[in-house]
Amino acid sequence: MSEAHLPEIERVLFTEEQIRQRIREVAAEISEKYRGRDLKLIGVLKGSVFFLTALAREIAIPVKIDFLAISSFSSRTAAPGLVRIAKDLDDSIESEDVLLVEDIVDTGFTARYLLQTLAGRGPNSLAICTLLDRTASRIVQVPVEFRCFEIPDRFVVGFGLDYRQLFRNLGYIAVIKQN
Ligand code: IMP
Ligand code: MG
Repeated sequence: MSEAHLPEIERVLFTEEQIRQRIREVAAEISEKYRGRDLKLIGVLKGSVFFLTALAREIAIPVKIDFLAISSFSSRTAAPGLVRIAKDLDDSIESEDVLLVEDIVDTGFTARYLLQTLAGRGPNSLAICTLLDRTASRIVQVPVEFRCFEIPDRFVVGFGLDYRQLFRNLGYIAVIKQN
């Protein structure tokens, strides 16, 4: 996409400093809850990479990390709720305490599918930590143990979240103008 067709940023929802501060708080909760256990953070490519690395650096206990990639067709496309794993984890999660790290939980289809799939692999525990939570668009209920921010029903970009693969590298989270 050429630069001329890039949508404009409408307003910043969360600044870099607000995100950093909130990640610190959530990381402290996680460190407390998982102290003495074998914590593994599982990131969902590509959106959660920025959040996962920032979070991991603020967690005060040892963590392992692994990634998977999915192809999803969200509520905003023609095939809502259809999710499949496009790249699987490198390692087993059997007997481990697993935290699924998401950029955003929207309809909940992706999170529910991943929870069901990972639960079948025998982890000791399994929970979700998301940067953003848009509960207003939830279609299927999923338990979200840790979240940084609740957001309104507007499309957002930045800190890993994309619009047509762009804007992931913004340090802040913003609403874009969509025509
Ligand atoms: P789900 O609807 O909960 O399955 O969310 C699936 C995926 O939709 C997320 O992991 C994001 O990749 C994408 N998504 C949902 N809302 C937004 C948004 O506001 N900006 C960028 N991506 C989004
Ligand atoms: Mg995406």
